[in-house]
Amino acid sequence: MKVCVIGMGPIGNRHAKLYRENPLAELVGVCDLRADRAAAGGQAFGVPHFLDARAMLQQLKPDLVSVATGGYEYGSDHSAPTIQALEAGCHVLCEKPISNDIAQAEAMVATARETGRCFGINLNHRFTPAAVLAKKWVTDGRLGHLLFINMGMWIMNPNESSPYFQLKALHPHTVDIMRYYCGDIEAVQCFATKAPGRKIWSTAQFNLRFVNGVVGSLTGSYDIGRGHPMERCEVAGTGGRFVIDDMFKEVTLYPSETLEKTVYTNPIFGGMRDFEDTFRNRINRFVEQVAQGVPPDQIDGKGADGLAAQKVLAAAIESLETEKVVYVK
Ligand SMILES: NC(=O)c1ccc[n+]([C@@H]2O[C@H](COP(=O)([O-])OP(=O)(O)OC[C@H]3O[C@@H](n4cnc5c(N)ncnc54)[C@H](O)[C@@H]3O)[C@@H](O)[C@H]2O)c1
Repeated sequence: MKVCVIGMGPIGNRHAKLYRENPLAELVGVCDLRADRAAAGGQAFGVPHFLDARAMLQQLKPDLVSVATGGYEYGSDHSAPTIQALEAGCHVLCEKPISNDIAQAEAMVATARETGRCFGINLNHRFTPAAVLAKKWVTDGRLGHLLFINMGMWIMNPNESSPYFQLKALHPHTVDIMRYYCGDIEAVQCFATKAPGRKIWSTAQFNLRFVNGVVGSLTGSYDIGRGHPMERCEVAGTGGRFVIDDMFKEVTLYPSETLEKTVYTNPIFGGMRDFEDTFRNRINRFVEQVAQGVPPDQIDGKGADGLAAQKVLAAAIESLETEKVVYVK
């Protein structure tokens, strides 16, 4: 498959590098509005570079496009190139958040549906062997009737661009993981706080209720530097409970009927090495599913999942503003 990357910041460069490693993909072009970034990408990967996405799509006719633009709240520049690429007949993998604007995100999902193309979001945190094994435990009924989920993620991001930057840009990941295990979320209540010196809601706490009755808690922060574990997910049901430590390092199942637990530990040889492997797994999975002709509505981490997460976050922001429980629209 011929692949192009739109947006050649640090993340677009990472996408380009990973496509080059994938035997099913051939990186054929890169694009950035910034001439320096476009040229540097073209040179680094030995492919033609463009300043205009439409010109690149017309000239190179890629099968698959990564949209790694960012913009305000890390999401305002995603919709235009995504829609251009879908309308040009390409399958698209877009960075998270799908968009910082719900109407634009809906237009992206609608365009994918109308064009019949596969549209994935880089919800990379669920593409780890530990996360996939935990999902299997849930679908195999090892947890019994699901009861609660506790999710946390904390990193340092000093960006002060928008009061809701942390809510909209960090939590597409955490809400996606929560939806992955427990399904759709129907109601949200959110409190938030500001770390010393910060003007934005840089740390937040959510209470959530899922459509199936599961209750959940989510804590997230842009105020704590990495170096320690940065993510934890605990899901419990009548049959047992699992805890995922740090995305891919370890997942432990505590069955309720026995005192013996099951632990999966990331192996030293052949295991995941670092955070970049979450991108590698996610990109390889998208390429694989497109190559296999998987129907667009069955793509893992699809556009509709990105949109659903953003709607939960919109409800959380409304809750923060109104101090009320808000139902997800
Ligand atoms: N999945 C993850 O774990 C993860 C981690 C970090 C960042 N991200 C996401 O990756 C995205 C990019 O992050 P970044 O740090 O590389 O951003 P960045 O702002 O450094 O780079 C984005 C680039 O896109 C270009 N661009 C914008 N609109 C364009 C258009 N229409 N055509 C061509 N180029 C265009 C900009 O000029 C810029 O160079 C963000 O949306 C962010 O949320 C995801």
